[in-house]
Amino acid sequence: MQAIKFMALATSCLLALPICAQAGEKETIKYRENNMEIIGAHMNSIVAIIKEQVPHKEHLTTHASGLSAAAKMSSAAFKEKTSGGDTTAKDTIWSDSAKFDEAMQMMLASTAKLETAAASGDMPAVQAAVGDVGKSCKNCHDTFRNKK
Ligand code: HEC
Repeated sequence: MQAIKFMALATSCLLALPICAQAGEKETIKYRENNMEIIGAHMNSIVAIIKEQVPHKEHLTTHASGLSAAAKMSSAAFKEKTSGGDTTAKDTIWSDSAKFDEAMQMMLASTAKLETAAASGDMPAVQAAVGDVGKSCKNCHDTFRNKK
């Protein structure tokens, strides 16, 4: 009996999937915010490590590749336009998408550079790349994000 119930549930879920798969606006916003939180968490960890506030130098390469990987998902996370909702994203993300893409590219280039520098263990290069990554965050936030 349990098995039959489970099968029925599984089948109805499969049938409903195309409808379920339509992300609602709330989920779309949450997803891109989660992407930014992941990016932010890696970035904060990297800064704490290079400032030697924490003794986890061996984590640097993992954070740098995690940051780069999360940055690569960011463009897709912002693809779907939302209007309203609990968000600080500006509408110009979608009305001035060429400029937004440029801001994304700046983050992608700098996070890729940071990943390479971290892998090579070249600390001055890591420092420089972290500075560039930070500029890329600020550049986009200043233009495309409302202050809370
Ligand atoms: C191309 C644009 C762009 C770049 C580059 C960018 N961000 Fe963001 N970020 C945004 C936007 C837009 C929001 C607001 C998202 C929302 O509220 O829907 C945001 C939100 C955030 C948030 C808050 C998330 C939340 O839960 O509300 C954090 C943290 C964050 N960004 C960190 C970073 C860091 C760190 C970097 C650089 C490594 C970065 N961002 C690079 C556009 C960008």
